[in-house]
Amino acid sequence: QKLELELDSIEKGGYEHFMLKEIFEQPRSILDSMRGRLELEAGHLNMGGIRAYEQKFVNAQRIIIVACGTSWHAGLVAEYLIEDLARIPVEVEYASEFRYRNPVITERDIVIAISQSGETADTLAAIELAKSKGATIFGVCNVVGSSIARATDAGAYTHAGPEIGVASTKAFTAQVTVLTLLAMIMGQKRGTITDTKLRELMVELNNIPAKVEKALELDLEIQAIAEIFKDVPNFLYLGRGYNFPVALEGALKLKEISYIHAEGYPAAEMKHGPIALIDENMPVVVIATKDSSYEKVVSNIQEVKARKGRIIAVVTEGDTVIPAMAEFVVEVPPTSEVLVPLVSVIPLQLLSYHIAVLRGCNVDQPRNLAKSVTVE
Ligand code: G6P
Repeated sequence: QKLELELDSIEKGGYEHFMLKEIFEQPRSILDSMRGRLELEAGHLNMGGIRAYEQKFVNAQRIIIVACGTSWHAGLVAEYLIEDLARIPVEVEYASEFRYRNPVITERDIVIAISQSGETADTLAAIELAKSKGATIFGVCNVVGSSIARATDAGAYTHAGPEIGVASTKAFTAQVTVLTLLAMIMGQKRGTITDTKLRELMVELNNIPAKVEKALELDLEIQAIAEIFKDVPNFLYLGRGYNFPVALEGALKLKEISYIHAEGYPAAEMKHGPIALIDENMPVVVIATKDSSYEKVVSNIQEVKARKGRIIAVVTEGDTVIPAMAEFVVEVPPTSEVLVPLVSVIPLQLLSYHIAVLRGCNVDQPRNLAKSVTVE
């Protein structure tokens, strides 16, 4: 039995749980997902998987993204990225809804299927449907040789390494990294992004692993916040723009492993419902990094504060405005707006992890959930 315990601890690399190990692996896994694709010195971007389909991507009238769970959140980030950088309209679909909806798909569409396991039944069925209508299918999978990877016309592996914790962490950031590279390459080929901007983004993307490393230093600070909120029944997560999908992902992480009810919302939609929930007992996590929606998010924070909500804000280092308004503030390093999810999601992963541990939950294998859902 002692040997078994030792083996277990070796597998977890000295961490208490796989999830924590995987959270801390992210500087490395993000780097792995860019390896050979971002060549900063040569000033090149490569993605072997799209080479044969380059013209299809350049001329695409529309991109449809299908996925489930956390991968769907990565798809939402990709919608912002691709529309921003490559100016192609994007729709993001829950695979389960898409497949039963009689969707309009043509040969001119590109369908991007995102899946960590590559085995999700609904995503696989959505691919088969889109294929039968003649669309080109591009996969973004983590597991090499998986069913989804095999069912696609082309694709790019995320190379995040095996993810054991049921709640997805490093696979998410690897998916976002690959989708960022894809959007940059499409933008370059379509001429929708200037060379200067592209160069700027390449430099920033290259800096992301170091910034994630920095964000991981928040661990102890976040553990202290987790202590304070571990017994609450509800949480609200708000973000705008690129941080809207991050708010959804933060809420999903908390639900999955701590069993606390949590909702992610686009901050401006708060006034259309969730604001009714806010009182002195409601923790509200606001992702409020310095970007184009910053001022608007500050007003949203004021609205929460006016109703005595307890604000936990994720801000950019050096912010002097929000710390005066929020009860708790965690600072992440500054980066380009389009890359911000890769950094802002880190404190949210840590928050859910620590709350779940403090509540005595089975972090790596939460009740009722499976790592890959191979049935409908
Ligand atoms: C399950 C897992 C989630 C995952 C989702 C989609 O629900 O518990 O972590 O995000 O499936 O899985 P996939 O492997 O397709 O990304």
